[in-house]
Amino acid sequence: MNPGHPRADLGLIGGSGFYEFFDQAERVRVSTPFGDPSDDVLVGDVDGRRVAFIARHGQGHRFPPHRVNYRANLWALRSVGVRQVLAPCAVGSLRPELGPGSVVVPDQVVDRTWGREHTVYDVEGPVVHAGFADPYCPRGREVAVKAVRDAGIEVADAGTLVVINGPRFSSTAESLWHQQAGWSVVGMTAMPEAAIARELAMCFTTVALVTDHDAGVHGGEAVTHEEVLAVFARNVDALKSVLRTALGAMPEPEPDDTAACPCRRALDGITLPFE
Ligand code: ADE
Repeated sequence: MNPGHPRADLGLIGGSGFYEFFDQAERVRVSTPFGDPSDDVLVGDVDGRRVAFIARHGQGHRFPPHRVNYRANLWALRSVGVRQVLAPCAVGSLRPELGPGSVVVPDQVVDRTWGREHTVYDVEGPVVHAGFADPYCPRGREVAVKAVRDAGIEVADAGTLVVINGPRFSSTAESLWHQQAGWSVVGMTAMPEAAIARELAMCFTTVALVTDHDAGVHGGEAVTHEEVLAVFARNVDALKSVLRTALGAMPEPEPDDTAACPCRRALDGITLPFE
C-alpha cells in the first residue's frame, strides 16, 4: 500500500507518447513486492476522469516486451486505486482483411510467451486460481469498440490475440500456424499483462492497433521493426483520441459486489493488501 498518494480508478498502460495526455499530472514513485514498475505512475485528469498512466516500456522505450515488469506495473496501478485498465498495443494482423491502421478489441487471448513472471501468487500463501475464461472486461470492450467506431476507424469488435515472446517476429511457419488456428492478431506485450490484471481483480481491455500483416499473410513480405514503428507513428494521434474518448466513457467507480462485470469478483474471498 502507498498511503498518501494521489489516486485514480482508471488506468492506462501504453507507449511513452501518452505522457502528453495530461495537462497536469503528479509523478508517483510506487514500490511493489515485485520490484520497480517500468516507470513512475503519472496520475492526472483526462476529460474529467482521474487516470493513472504507466509507460509499459519505460522512459526511452528501454524495456523490450520480455523484460517488462508486468507484475510491478499492474500492482503499482492497483495500489493507487485503479480498477479499470485500458491497454493499447501494436499487433501484426493474421488476416488479410485486417489491414494496418485498423483496430482489434480482442475478446480472447492465447499465451505463447515463456520465461516471464506470470503470476502475483507465487509465494506461500493463499492458493489462487483466477478464472480467465473471458480474459477481457465486457464493459471495457464495449466502450472501446464504440470509441473506435465513432472515430471512423475500422474495428474488429472481437478476435483472438496470440502473444509471442519476442523480441523477434514470427517465422513464416509459426505465423501460418497462428493463422490456421483461426487467431486474428499477434503481439508481444498482452500477456501476462491481462492475466495479472485479472489476478488483481482489475477490469482490463486491450486496444490493439494493427501495424502490419504478419509473415505469410497475403503471401506478404516479412515484417520489419521499421514498418511497425512507422505505421504506429502514423496512427498514434488517432489512437490517443480514441483512448481519451474511451476513458471518458468508462463506468464510474463502483463497489465490487454491485459491479456489472465479473472481473472485479475474480478473487473469491482473497483480500489484497490494498483493501
Ligand atoms: N507487433 C506489431 N507487429 C507485430 C507482429 N507482426 N508480430 C508480433 N508483434 C507485433
